[in-house]
Amino acid sequence: MTKYRAVIVGAGRMAGTIDDEVLEYDACVLPYSHAAGYAAVPDVELVAFADQNLEKAQSLQQRYGVARAYEDYREMIERERPDIVSITTPATHHCEAVLFAAEHGARAIYCEKALCCSLADADRMTAAVESRNIKFNTGTLRRWAVGMETLRDMVDRGDLGQLQAVVTYSVGGMLHSASHFFDLMLYLAGDPELEWAQGTVTTAGFDPEPERWDADLSGIGQVRFDNGVMCHLLSTGMWCEFAAIGSEGAVQIMNNGVDFALRKRQTAVEGRGYVEYVPTPFPAFQRTSPTVRLIEDLVTALDTDGQTRQGIRRAVKTLEIAFGIIQSDRQSGARVALPLQDREYWMHSH
Ligand SMILES: NC(=O)c1ccc[n+]([C@@H]2O[C@H](COP(=O)([O-])OP(=O)(O)OC[C@H]3O[C@@H](n4cnc5c(N)ncnc54)[C@H](O)[C@@H]3O)[C@@H](O)[C@H]2O)c1
Repeated sequence: MTKYRAVIVGAGRMAGTIDDEVLEYDACVLPYSHAAGYAAVPDVELVAFADQNLEKAQSLQQRYGVARAYEDYREMIERERPDIVSITTPATHHCEAVLFAAEHGARAIYCEKALCCSLADADRMTAAVESRNIKFNTGTLRRWAVGMETLRDMVDRGDLGQLQAVVTYSVGGMLHSASHFFDLMLYLAGDPELEWAQGTVTTAGFDPEPERWDADLSGIGQVRFDNGVMCHLLSTGMWCEFAAIGSEGAVQIMNNGVDFALRKRQTAVEGRGYVEYVPTPFPAFQRTSPTVRLIEDLVTALDTDGQTRQGIRRAVKTLEIAFGIIQSDRQSGARVALPLQDREYWMHSH
């Protein structure tokens, strides 16, 4: 039954223990970690972990009953010759690991978000992956959640009329946290191209002068997509709340994707001109693990030699938005055309 051999680079929370942290959290449907996800997909056999801290790799090796543990991920990839490489090290290391995996025979890569720490690195990763036809997805898991897909289908069918705006009410570190939110907004808007960004960095003490920042900067602002949809990045204190607003209706996404409130726009009530938004049932859906759906998508792409549903270029757009907001701030809030010309700016993210 097993067709594909997988290994995991980095043996921390997202590799194999984060499931324990979210047992009581309705927003997370298990399995959540990469290792638990692979264990639930019969087409894949997880064969090894690597971590610079060998004890961590050995601990997950034991927990998941996996054949081998390594201290050096390069040795693991060279010896195991895996089909699928998961990368769950911090974002500062993703570029190095993706390049190494790509250059040493990986056929599919599941890289955690944030994709990496600069657009220049993102470009190097894109070239390495696409030139070898490597199937690629990143851990921005909301695009793999069935509730979000149900909403995206509604948008595609025109159930909300013409989509006009997507809103996130919480931003946070633009690589670590907001890469999730940017990816969701792109997904709900039909994965359009980016036109421009305009925004402000909200991190206290932000110094716009350098080209490298040791903090994962937070920001607010607007992004315009080429299909006319506006994306609003708000900082309201509300965690993981979003909205999709169309000409005929709107959906509020609450509690990190647990609750969806649909309202249909109603006009021309007999003799009166005002507009109301009337609560309407959101379609029923069955929630399943986004991690498993992401892995199954990699498997399907390998089986068919097709494209994954995400791919690396969509992940790069989340970085374009983050660095676009920083560049807008550096230019006193001017609109900045995307994709950015200057791709060397770098910021830290764990
Ligand atoms: N998709 C999600 O919902 C989600 C949730 C949590 C974390 N993440 C992402 O997963 C990644 C890891 O986060 P985490 O919370 O699991 O961190 P973690 O610190 O628990 O695990 C990272 C592991 O990588 C190892 N490591 C670091 N550099 C290494 C190297 N050069 N070679 C081998 N091993 C190395 C560390 O020793 C550590 O064990 C981050 O990119 C983070 O943003 C994603």
